[in-house]
Amino acid sequence: MAKEISSVTDPRAMITEGCRLPVKMYNCDEWPLAEILNIKRDTEDGIASFYVHYVAYNKRLDEWVADARLDYDKMQMPSAVKAREKGADAKSLNGSRPPSPEMKPATPRPPAPPRIEKVPIVEKIKTEIKVENGAPPVGPKQQPKKKKLKAEGGIAVDVIVSQDSQESNQPPTPRQTGSMSTHHPDDVVTRMKNITMIELGKYRLKPWYFSPYPQEMTNIPVVYLCEFCLKYVKSSKCLERHLVKCPLKHPPGNEIYRKQSISFFEVDGRKNKIYSQNLCLLAKLFLDHKTLYYDTDPFLFYVMTECDDRGFHVVGYFSKEKESTEDYNVACILTLPPFQRKGFGRLLIEFSYELSKFEGKTGSPEKPLSDLGLLSYRSYWSHTILEILVDMKPSENGERPQITINEISELTSIKKEDVISTLQYLNLINYYKGQYVIVLTKEVLESHMRAMQKRKLRIDPKCLHWTAKDWSKRGKW
Ligand code: ACO
Ligand code: ZN
Repeated sequence: MAKEISSVTDPRAMITEGCRLPVKMYNCDEWPLAEILNIKRDTEDGIASFYVHYVAYNKRLDEWVADARLDYDKMQMPSAVKAREKGADAKSLNGSRPPSPEMKPATPRPPAPPRIEKVPIVEKIKTEIKVENGAPPVGPKQQPKKKKLKAEGGIAVDVIVSQDSQESNQPPTPRQTGSMSTHHPDDVVTRMKNITMIELGKYRLKPWYFSPYPQEMTNIPVVYLCEFCLKYVKSSKCLERHLVKCPLKHPPGNEIYRKQSISFFEVDGRKNKIYSQNLCLLAKLFLDHKTLYYDTDPFLFYVMTECDDRGFHVVGYFSKEKESTEDYNVACILTLPPFQRKGFGRLLIEFSYELSKFEGKTGSPEKPLSDLGLLSYRSYWSHTILEILVDMKPSENGERPQITINEISELTSIKKEDVISTLQYLNLINYYKGQYVIVLTKEVLESHMRAMQKRKLRIDPKCLHWTAKDWSKRGKW
């Protein structure tokens, strides 16, 4: 009898998918709360392994763990989890919702800052404020406080905020078609990583997320990719055979940029469909918030490579709709993991804005941005805008230099909303004597200068050989 009771209450016997409990994280001493997504039992010895998602962390940290890493004492059954979430939801209706897990800091990865769409945006005009077409960068109820202007050791620039900056309050509509669209349902299959490892050129990469490679690629230790055409095969032997006959030593399409070892190839998703699909499959391994589709026709892919005597090796890419009704200049962007944190992401972003400058347009990345996407864009926008402000000279009569949001936007091709959200994020806009003034403090200037000195890789517009096509005038993409 006693034994029966203990088996009913033994958490080891009760553990199922949906249970939550502390789990020891790989390579560190932390035991964050995790949800069991899947359980696999060895048919011979019955030993179980568990696929866990750390609740407050990005999905790329999800992993298979052994029994010894679970803290059963604090296990919550799925019903308890649901009841707790219901309670939390009810609370949220009263306006006190806890931050969603995706918004929580994802240490040891960087914390996810608030999403761009949630940054308060410019609204109404205050008539007594002396602004050209004026719209202050605060909501109507938040009256701007008069602050004492301080710029010791720094620079002050008048900023003239334009009226039509308010249009950005509309949340962007996620695209549902194309090579990748915004990811919605979190079903059991796509919630779990399905590829163990890929080999690409001289690198072995551990995927972060699910990608819809064919079933036969999912139960093998390594998927081998041709680093030039991105074809995937099941074994190194197959790859060897493929490499003998593969004609490519660079991505297909036109090389539209080359400076030193860095090149960009423009690949048309309609003309090079197989390559584009293979690129999307590869990218999806590191992109969480997109679902992959096979319609690559409406996209161009800008593939960045590094060249050596063996060929042009892919470093990263971004895709771009041939026609975007929302002024998106990037759909998806990726630096392959071995090349991350070396300035290549920033280079890709800079290139995307150079294309927009050639087109005479402003642009913005497709939303939602991932946590790393937002960090990279914030960093790029901040430094690009600061570069302009720092270079501004006082007028001849010694007055503070003046610039409008529109001018910053035109000079950089960064969409107005992103200019405003960046200025707000950097907390640079001050209200002084009826004017909006950007005050660049000594600290901001110094940190900007430090970042600029680190920034070795830059796009050189002179090396871009490209003419923008007007896709709306073409019968077919
Ligand atoms: N931790 C902290 N800050 C980071 C990190 C990180 N892991 N990665 C990027 N940043 C920030 C930093 O501010 C960095 O500047 P710093 O090096 O001076 O500190 C800045 O971003 C740019 O860094 P790069 O080295 O130029 O960027 P990277 O080559 O690593 O590429 C990218 C950034 C493309 C976002 C990369 O992390 C990636 O491919 N991630 C996976 C796919 C993804 O999330 N793509 C964006 C999706 S959103 C969209 O597609 C529109
Ligand atoms: Zn090949």
